[in-house]
Amino acid sequence: MNEARVTPEGIRIHAREDFEGMHAAGRLTARILDEVGERVFPGTTTGEIDDFIRTRVEELGATSATIGYRGYQHASCISVNHVVCHGIPGEKRLVDGDILNIDVTVILDGWFGDSSRMYVAGTPSVKARRLIQVTHDALMKGIEAVRPGATFGDIGAAIQTYAEGHRMSVVRDFCGHGIGRVFHAPPNVLHFGRPGKGPKLEEGMFFTIEPMINLGRPETKVLADDWTAVTRDKSLSAQFEHAVGVTADGCEIFTLSPAGKYFPAI
Ligand code: MF3
Ligand code: CO
Ligand code: CO
Repeated sequence: MNEARVTPEGIRIHAREDFEGMHAAGRLTARILDEVGERVFPGTTTGEIDDFIRTRVEELGATSATIGYRGYQHASCISVNHVVCHGIPGEKRLVDGDILNIDVTVILDGWFGDSSRMYVAGTPSVKARRLIQVTHDALMKGIEAVRPGATFGDIGAAIQTYAEGHRMSVVRDFCGHGIGRVFHAPPNVLHFGRPGKGPKLEEGMFFTIEPMINLGRPETKVLADDWTAVTRDKSLSAQFEHAVGVTADGCEIFTLSPAGKYFPAI
């Protein structure tokens, strides 16, 4: 393993011992995402779900990375139906058939854990379930492309090919990011692209992959609250996010579910 250093693109190369800190932060994030599944049901509010997350982050000895981040006030982003990302928890009551992304970022011993998954309230439509499955599988296709010598374009191309092959679209306006002892670092991890393009992956790079996939068109707009991003055509949107670290022969996923839960309510 190389010494810790930064590439010309500004991408930090971490040392082997840094993986353990990321695993601990990622595991804690994933544990909270496991626990939150049973709190998602018709009649509850996204604010109540966020209150639970805030409490658990504290009880588990971590700090929320999102509270106070650029003025954001909540321990999670909760993005319901046509909300693409950065949905603000509040008084909104879930109804039967709603699909939602819950995105949690914690800081543990200085390391950032960042992950999101999809949840459903009650029984979702067949097309909503299909969107969730394709989005999850698109993320895993992207992760399968992660190894030293591959490029960030390979990751984006794998996700785009998979999603568009299922006649769904990839959001262009938001991307994954380098992570580690900081929340958002270089590079921008695009969820679309061409094989062989973009920076080369090296052992010791830590980043998120977090594709947002729409049933309709890819365009988004941000609402007047300056956070909530929605699909312009009001079509349903889904997202999954993992944080990964590049190893000698592939990658380790820092945010794997300890309980093996990926679709907690399906
Ligand atoms: N967790 C989000 C990400 O994946 C960022 C949320 S920033 C917030 O990068 F302020 F909106 F919470
Ligand atoms: Co992220
Ligand atoms: Co996130």
